Amino acid sequence: MGLRNIMVEGDDILRKRSREVTTVDDRIRMILDDMLETMRESDGVGIAAPQVGILRRMFIVEAEEGDVFEIINPEIIEMEGSFIGEEGCLSVPGIFGKVERPEKIKVKGLDRYGKELICEAVDLKAVAICHEFDHLEGVLFIDKATDLRKAGEDE
Ligand code: CO
Repeated sequence: MGLRNIMVEGDDILRKRSREVTTVDDRIRMILDDMLETMRESDGVGIAAPQVGILRRMFIVEAEEGDVFEIINPEIIEMEGSFIGEEGCLSVPGIFGKVERPEKIKVKGLDRYGKELICEAVDLKAVAICHEFDHLEGVLFIDKATDLRKAGEDE
């Protein structure tokens, strides 16, 4: 397949709760591959399945180039600390804002072969995981941000 269309704010699909993945099969792996390609094409640091129109609980984060983190049916099992950082979203192009997120998280789920995985993340990776997790609940960062503004505008 390859590149997929990114749903943009205003599309109902972004406001729905995604369902669990019941079987981790080749179709799921193909969607993940397409999601990564689509995310990289748009210079994103994360992408969730509903952003490409698929209401399934999975997302990808690449907080640092080459550090690809994929997770299926994620659960955030620990959160620690808090800080406020700048966020944007491929589904809300050109808009940025500050969002409060945990500093450190622990997340549990399945990898692309259906094996259980647990990951601890800090800083940008933790933020991105929380941001993508929200997409699975139909929540966008603009719902939480305190000072939304367009790219290029001063703080
Ligand atoms: Co987003």
